Amino acid sequence: MSFLAIEQVVFTYPGRPPVVDGIDWRMPAGEIHCLVGRSGCGKTTLLQLAAGLLRPQSGRVLLRGQELLAPGPQLGFMFQAPTLLDWQRVIDNVLLPVSLQRRPGAGDVERARALLDQLGLAAHAQHYPRHLSGGQQSRVALARALVLEPALLLLDEPFAALDAITRAELQDDLLHTCRQRGTTVLFVTHDINEAVYLGDRIAVMHAGRIVDDIRIDLPGPHVQAMRDEAPFNRYCAQVRKSMDGVAA
Ligand SMILES: Nc1ncnc2c1ncn2[C@@H]1O[C@H](COP(=O)(O)OP(=O)(O)OP(=O)(O)O)[C@@H](O)[C@H]1O
Ligand SMILES: [Mg+2]
Repeated sequence: MSFLAIEQVVFTYPGRPPVVDGIDWRMPAGEIHCLVGRSGCGKTTLLQLAAGLLRPQSGRVLLRGQELLAPGPQLGFMFQAPTLLDWQRVIDNVLLPVSLQRRPGAGDVERARALLDQLGLAAHAQHYPRHLSGGQQSRVALARALVLEPALLLLDEPFAALDAITRAELQDDLLHTCRQRGTTVLFVTHDINEAVYLGDRIAVMHAGRIVDDIRIDLPGPHVQAMRDEAPFNRYCAQVRKSMDGVAA
């Protein structure tokens, strides 16, 4: 059984052609899959369907074999902008998904602190978001997405606004954190290089459909130097060719 199964999913806004047009996609537990495609091809819509934030007109989304009817604590979501609450301290921003359900207990605070520590933010727990850099704010948003220890993490271009070096650091943080916890990740990005670095598998999307399915098999641990090597760049060329092929 797949951990997440998207089965023949169709989603249409009234009076328009389908934005998601019969997509099938399966994710085994613990894998990281990246979704790439041109602006407007339906990536965010597919992610919202996978989160249960939108319901398909036909087809279905199954999480551990159960139809997903609404988002729950098993899901973590991270948007393009960090969307932190300015009037709350970093630690309380991280604890927000807990606070929405119940009063955070000692175990919750400990988990939030451990995440901040892991993401290099231990010294900022009592600061307000405005005192943090953009990259630090993105780390807080990542910690918030992980605080309930979701089994599935859905990310919509979360690092798009960051400079290349900060972005590479956050990619490593995400990989380490999710591999360690066995989190299953669906990651939307425009950036081919980012998709090849993070993904076990890449879905290329065009006009509401998945037009290519590329398994990434790079030997050894992921290190930044890998980006300069031939196998990595061959995968990037393959993904680019696939995206160009449908655009032509
Ligand atoms: N609320 C809405 N009502 C009508 N059409 C919408 C709505 N939201 C999105 N769309 C349309 O659905 C299509 C897919 O949008 P979506 O946001 O999924 O694209 P995307 O691949 O995430 O694009 P980007 O890379 O720019 O974020 C677009 O053509 C968009 O105009
Ligand atoms: Mg989008």
